Amino acid sequence: MDTFSLAIDSKSSLTSFSRGANIAVVGAGGGIGKALVERLSMDENKPNVIALNRSDLRRSGWKGLFKSLELENESSIKEASEFIKRKMGTLSAVIVATGLLHDDTGIKPEKSWSALDPYSIERVYRVNTVGPALVAKYFLPLLDNNCKSVFACLSARVGSIADNDLGGWYAYRASKAALNMMLKNFSIELRRKNKSAVCVGLHPGTVRTKLSKLFSNNVSPESIVSPELAAINLLSVLNDLTVRDSGKIFAYDGSVIPY
Ligand SMILES: NC(=O)c1ccc[n+]([C@@H]2O[C@H](COP(=O)([O-])OP(=O)(O)OC[C@H]3O[C@@H](n4cnc5c(N)ncnc54)[C@H](OP(=O)(O)O)[C@@H]3O)[C@@H](O)[C@H]2O)c1
Repeated sequence: MDTFSLAIDSKSSLTSFSRGANIAVVGAGGGIGKALVERLSMDENKPNVIALNRSDLRRSGWKGLFKSLELENESSIKEASEFIKRKMGTLSAVIVATGLLHDDTGIKPEKSWSALDPYSIERVYRVNTVGPALVAKYFLPLLDNNCKSVFACLSARVGSIADNDLGGWYAYRASKAALNMMLKNFSIELRRKNKSAVCVGLHPGTVRTKLSKLFSNNVSPESIVSPELAAINLLSVLNDLTVRDSGKIFAYDGSVIPY
């Protein structure tokens, strides 16, 4: 079976967007990104979805529009935006679902300041902050001016400075706090340049993916959701957004997370 043919029901989550809206998902091969494109592909509102990912998703069964995108390479982000402009014109939504918490080169969330490593901090910032900011640089100008459009980045509750009681996870927390500041800044400039556009950060909850795998043992089973449920929740939040929400960070249940 294709990995892109999961059976989930096809109710529309996108009633506030125009029918056939053009939607780009960056990181469409990740746990949450893949669930988002699957869900969007089945939506009754028939969005026109482009999947962007560093490895080619057509090999794992994705049959829609695809363009490769490597977050740590600015020209690949620029090329992807030019491809979208040629093929689709404008976009109604961009969802950036990329992110890095740990990898097989030894990057892992730090429990203590003694574990701080300059290479790891830099790399986590490059993927979690600089990459999404460069996606914004090239994709914000593609947002539709004539109807509701949204630029959303997957952030994380642990990026909230106000909400930080536990400490640890230095690089990841700081990279997401910096991403939140980028998003706030983008929302201010966007207000001047595109009056119908909204720019937000999204916290998906704790989701069963590669990113959370090593740490989900510490979370009660009923607090972890499937990527499919996370996608449904996040699309529902996107659907309810208005321009007054721009610059804010939202959790999966629609509540606002303080910076
Ligand atoms: N899962 C959770 O519990 C949780 C909780 C809070 C926030 N979040 C946030 O949600 C977002 C998605 O996380 P996830 O759980 O879906 O993680 P995931 O399954 O590990 O997916 C991460 C995605 O980011 C992509 N990526 C990483 N580095 C990249 C690069 N240099 N260039 C292009 N793509 C790159 C990965 O591509 P490859 O597949 O090619 O590696 C993958 O598509 C992240 O921002 C994460 O911080 C997740």
